[in-house]
Amino acid sequence: MTRQPFVDLGAQYREVRDELLPEVERLLAAGAFVGGEPVTRFETAFAAYCGAPHAIGVANGTDALHLALRALGVAPGDDVVTVPNTFVATAEAIVQAGARPVLLDVRPDTLLMDVAALDAVATSRTRAIVPVHLYGCLADVEGLERWCAARGVALLEDAAQAHGAARGGRRAGAFGDAAAFSFYPAKNLGAAGEAGAVVTRRADVAQRVARLRDHGQSARYHHDLVGYNSRLDALQAAVLAVKLRRLDAWNARRRALAALYRERLAKVPGVELTAAPADAESHVYHLFVIRVAHRERLRAGLTARGIDTGLHYPVPIHLQRGWQHLGYGPGDFPVAEAAADAVLSLPIYPHMSENAVHRVCDAIEACG
Ligand SMILES: Cc1ncc(COP(=O)(O)O)c(C=O)c1O
Repeated sequence: MTRQPFVDLGAQYREVRDELLPEVERLLAAGAFVGGEPVTRFETAFAAYCGAPHAIGVANGTDALHLALRALGVAPGDDVVTVPNTFVATAEAIVQAGARPVLLDVRPDTLLMDVAALDAVATSRTRAIVPVHLYGCLADVEGLERWCAARGVALLEDAAQAHGAARGGRRAGAFGDAAAFSFYPAKNLGAAGEAGAVVTRRADVAQRVARLRDHGQSARYHHDLVGYNSRLDALQAAVLAVKLRRLDAWNARRRALAALYRERLAKVPGVELTAAPADAESHVYHLFVIRVAHRERLRAGLTARGIDTGLHYPVPIHLQRGWQHLGYGPGDFPVAEAAADAVLSLPIYPHMSENAVHRVCDAIEACG
């Protein structure tokens, strides 16, 4: 029985190999490893792709969130609102910036931040909000922009899963004050290791992030801020520049596979699909996630049939052992808690075949 992997980065590598290896060879031969021209070139290309004037490459997506929050002026004593159903990095970055994460339950249909619920948690201490474009689907960015603009609150998109997702012709990264991207290898745009970027339309934020990532330097050995070492490697930038040229095609392929999943699973009893966005372009299907009542039984059945699956995420932030200091408890965020028990991520990646999607759906049906 051949295994159906959750992702297949080997297949992706085979597609880009002939373009990628000469770039890597050139940089190794030149001894150019950190920052420099390859980084600037990728930053320019990625900013243009997102439709924002600035992109600043950093070491990973967590640092992108953290440095963006600091550049937006978030400091101790501030509250930053985000959601409980995200990767822990979203909340970590808020704590790293010295602020308090305030959690807000998500909409049951989309599992994304609920603009209508924001007023209930906002106070004079609310300095920023961090919606997560979970699974690759844009949150209600226009509603969030309006809410933030009316209250003078900063909007930072957690776009770690949503490279290329767009609404009304604007892409993730072009909404609000700033956006944080992760280029972790399995992301829609993935490096050959750790990498991330802050994208922003604000020149002041771009300049502060650029300094924070490089020990607060304004000029060589002149440190205007207490900063970090969070620079982007030249090799990662070169890899990302090659893959960026394929991102739209890869996202289109993810959408096509997701459409096939939706068609096949729409009528399978017990399988709940997250609402399809009205505008197809706003979802880039970093993950294809279903909700089922008997998740562990289905997961075991799929594993027995050679199909790998994932859980994004099985424990919401407020129920994590290391996060009890936030003061929340079971029952505080019922939508996020129910989702954590029911979500199951099915394999999806641009190099997956239609036949493979059919195999996964056949197996789900066979598992009952
Ligand atoms: C929603 C979300 N936020 C933040 C991150 C953190 O990115 P990184 O792993 O590059 O630090 C990730 C990725 O893992 C993520 O999925």
